[in-house]
Amino acid sequence: MSESAKLSFKGQDYEFPVITGTENESAIDIAKLRASSGLITLDPGYKNTGATKSAITFLDGEEGILRYRGYRIEDLAEKSTFLEVSYLLIYGELPTQAQYEDFSKEITHHTLVHEDIKKILEGFPSNAHPMGVLSSMICALTAFYPASLNPNRSEEEVNLSIIRLIAKMPTFAAWAYKNEMGHPVNYPDNSLDYCSNFLKMMFALPAEKYDVDPVVSAALDKLLILHADHEQNCSTSTVRIVGSSQASIYASISAGINALWGPLHGGANQSVIEMLEAIKADGGDAKKYLDKAKDKNDPFRLMGFGHRVYKNFDPRAKIIKKAADDVLEKLGVNDPVLEIAKELEHAALNDQYFIDRQLYPNVDFYSGIIYRALGIPTDMFTVMFALGRLPGWIAQWKEMRENGEPIGRPRQVYTGANERDYVSMNKR
Ligand code: MLT
Repeated sequence: MSESAKLSFKGQDYEFPVITGTENESAIDIAKLRASSGLITLDPGYKNTGATKSAITFLDGEEGILRYRGYRIEDLAEKSTFLEVSYLLIYGELPTQAQYEDFSKEITHHTLVHEDIKKILEGFPSNAHPMGVLSSMICALTAFYPASLNPNRSEEEVNLSIIRLIAKMPTFAAWAYKNEMGHPVNYPDNSLDYCSNFLKMMFALPAEKYDVDPVVSAALDKLLILHADHEQNCSTSTVRIVGSSQASIYASISAGINALWGPLHGGANQSVIEMLEAIKADGGDAKKYLDKAKDKNDPFRLMGFGHRVYKNFDPRAKIIKKAADDVLEKLGVNDPVLEIAKELEHAALNDQYFIDRQLYPNVDFYSGIIYRALGIPTDMFTVMFALGRLPGWIAQWKEMRENGEPIGRPRQVYTGANERDYVSMNKR
């Protein structure tokens, strides 16, 4: 029996259908609200508003559950690979051996980028933030593959664009880093797996032999899995709304990269390390900063703690915490900044002030620590987040287009001046 919700307004009763998803989440379908009552809803930040129905990712903030296409994040992080998870998110099912081999071969075939893109890269000063370089190069793909601009693009064209994005994003990310370092770029080495190829393009130097550390490559693969999708977060919602105008997938993903760049979203992992480095520079007294965080008159806020959706713990953080401990031990990393991080983590997990406010370490806290231990430079942390989130953005864009969703066009409540007559400047 279908459920419904009733609304009474100015003596009139209205009834709206309630839809329930496969995990028993319920939503009031207000598609006819304005036409029937003249009312709209107001929900800044959309914290109580469902933008769509999606079959890609399920998360439960109270229970700390995260599943991609029904598979637990814990299982995927332990048993799968980033490319296999990318296939799962985008096409809906885990690939057969043959499907996986075809997918991997296609991606390997497309890792190279047009030489003219280097001219775009060379136009950026070395102080350009790599996220701005990355979003620009991804959007530039519209120029090299103009068929992607056709709103009536074929499924084959969409799939080719998907393969190109997954194949070329590591190349662009590594090139953005090389531009920042003032080093010559490295071309892809298709004899390597996805993460090893990226690490070699990042860190190999001319005339020096570079061997990828399998511990680093495996840790990076796990990190990318953990970041691959997260339902309707800010950057994913951006990708969907840009795609809803029938903009190309390259333009939509470029917009998602820019949304992720913000310190309140993907930039949080960079802010975590910058906070830790500031504490270290100020003498390394973690307790001083924990007290500052508790002082409501002090503007200092702990970065990397708490989450908008997860109320008790972020399941990804639990997995990354263990991976960080393993990697730091295996690599023999001894970093005073990481010691400060452990003091803050211990306090957040044991101090009632932080427990009461659900300020537990989140995915950004640990990802910043592990990226630092892997030798990834701080302003590349958000680029790593983008590299991981790419298959999720693609899957969500593809789902939105396949479901024929309309262009996104929210309403507003106007609070400005009422009608008034124009007054010429000499009479004001
Ligand atoms: C994410 O993974 O996108 C972040 O945790 C932010 C979010 O989900 O709102």
